[in-house]
Amino acid sequence: MSAVRSRPLPLLALAALLLCGAILIAACGGDDDYETAETHDTHEADDAAPADLTTGELSEAALAGEKLFSANCSACHGATANGTSQGPPLVHQIYEPSHHGNASFVIAVARGVRAHHWDFGNMPAVESLSINEIHQVICYVRELQLASGIIEEIPTSTPC
Ligand code: HEC
Repeated sequence: MSAVRSRPLPLLALAALLLCGAILIAACGGDDDYETAETHDTHEADDAAPADLTTGELSEAALAGEKLFSANCSACHGATANGTSQGPPLVHQIYEPSHHGNASFVIAVARGVRAHHWDFGNMPAVESLSINEIHQVICYVRELQLASGIIEEIPTSTPC
């Protein structure tokens, strides 16, 4: 019987990925659309989203995003991104474009998020979504933010 070797590779790979991420973020330092996690203040979980959320008319991209959101995100972030006991509301001032630009959504979905704002724990990566699908999800969240008055216009970098 051959000895089973312990395989530290996944951890190493994860460490390498995080390091690459840090380098990538550092390299994008000039992009004011994105802010690194370390610079955020910790917010209390009772910073609730507005309760009177109206979705109004969604664009075609946002409608596609709504379906993707309900299949991949709503279990934690709530049916209309209004939060659950598993995750924060994304229709919330701290996720407006000037604080969490579209790039931070792409990175969150691709790599997951280490808990830093709330006490819900980490967000796992959602690897099944393509970049186009992530943009559709962003359209949905931005249009909900618009409908709830958190933002006054959809950022021009959002393709919807
Ligand atoms: C298993 C639960 C879970 C799922 C599924 C999930 N999230 Fe999250 N997400 C979280 C938690 C928890 C946080 C808050 C982490 C913190 O800052 O404390 C978070 C944070 C975020 C953030 C903020 C990132 C940042 O830079 O602070 C974004 C954007 C986000 N999620 C988008 C999504 C999208 C889009 C989906 C679906 C494709 C999704 N999440 C699916 C739990 C989840």
